[in-house]
Amino acid sequence: MSADDAVATDPVEWKLLPKTAAVGEDGHLRVGDIDLLDLAAEFGTPLFVYDEYHLRQACRAAVAAWGDGVAYAAKAFLCRAMARLAFEEGMHLDVASGGELHVALSAGVPPAKLILHGNNKSEEELATALECGIGRIVVDSFDEIARLGRLLETLPARSERPAVLVRVTPGVEAHTHEFVRTGGEDSKFGFSVASGAAAQAVAALELLPSVELVGVHAHIGSQVFDVSSFEQAAEVLGRFFAPLGLPELVVGGGLGVPYVNGESAPTQVEWADATRAACARMGVDPSVRISAEPGRSIVAAAGITLYTVGTVKRLLGIRTYVSVDGGMSDNPRPVLYGSGYEAFLPRVVRASRPEPIRLVGKHCESGDLVVPQAFVPADLQVGDVVATPVTGAYGYSMASNYNKVPRPAVVFVADGSARVVVRRETLEDLTRLDS
Ligand code: LLP
Repeated sequence: MSADDAVATDPVEWKLLPKTAAVGEDGHLRVGDIDLLDLAAEFGTPLFVYDEYHLRQACRAAVAAWGDGVAYAAKAFLCRAMARLAFEEGMHLDVASGGELHVALSAGVPPAKLILHGNNKSEEELATALECGIGRIVVDSFDEIARLGRLLETLPARSERPAVLVRVTPGVEAHTHEFVRTGGEDSKFGFSVASGAAAQAVAALELLPSVELVGVHAHIGSQVFDVSSFEQAAEVLGRFFAPLGLPELVVGGGLGVPYVNGESAPTQVEWADATRAACARMGVDPSVRISAEPGRSIVAAAGITLYTVGTVKRLLGIRTYVSVDGGMSDNPRPVLYGSGYEAFLPRVVRASRPEPIRLVGKHCESGDLVVPQAFVPADLQVGDVVATPVTGAYGYSMASNYNKVPRPAVVFVADGSARVVVRRETLEDLTRLDS
């Protein structure tokens, strides 16, 4: 079947849009009480637009579902404004590198609210974390245990020992893309429960007098739609964890989000309740702090990307290519994981979208897909602003300068005003690191 045989589709589903999405009298989509076309005109495209109300509500929902200790996984989208917002809304922050740690600290997030991850933390990253008094370090390997021990001998003694958790792999495969599965036996992350490595790591950390082992951590994967995957992992974890008598259990992130019409995902509460129930069945003491690290589910649907259409190429009997001014440099997910998105025109957000097109970027390779099979209103034309919703997670954070395309600006919108939280890169920025 050629692309032109595809059937007409409905407008983008409302639940894929940020919480303050509304239609103006002129039919334009408004977010945060601002017309998206005005944002494109003022700040240029490509542009990442985040609904601040949506971000705050998502953080609050996570805190309400999990309680104190729940951490925002900063890798999904991080800049100073986002770090501050998550902290203001009561979340801790999971940082997975010295770079993420630096951004969070420079945003003013107290070190005690940070939890450091990484399967290969450098000595420098560990030293920075220890010196600033980081809240938690999640230990991932025997080499890291040795590295920590050595470092703590050389650093000035502190009144409190650094709190660490041990990362374990429960041997549960989440039903998700293989690149974002992390909980199985064949994984670079953590210590396997089944092989006994996890128990050895616990013993080694208990013997290390310079750290305080406070808990166990696991993360089975990302974009998980199936609560039963979380339940299974929590059962394995709970069984391992209960006899240790430790006070904290962190089940990682992974809650999926709908990206396209027709998809739906569990809520934070459903995920938290299923996890807690599974832990209780395994004998985990009710006083244990069970928490999580949601990333995608906090930011994905809060963000929309705006592009401008530059060319429309109709290949008779094959397909129509619509090229925009961004692409795999601002959202590598379609290329990396074959991820699907919707596309729509903010000027007619409620219009039906009968025209099948392939939405592509401006990079010099055919794989540069934004939406491989998109449907748009038939009157789409060059100069139109086209939007892809649910692009708030792992888009900007995985953006690159491929083809020396400057990275887009990021704006937060709320109550009729927009603020630039990350400015657009300039051509000068592109040579900033060159000698
Ligand atoms: N905690 C740990 C230890 C993690 O490794 C991750 C994600 C999270 C929490 C947050 O997971 P989330 O709630 O966002 O699913 N780039 C991929 C996703 C990679 C996720 C890596 N780790 C994507 O674009 O789909």
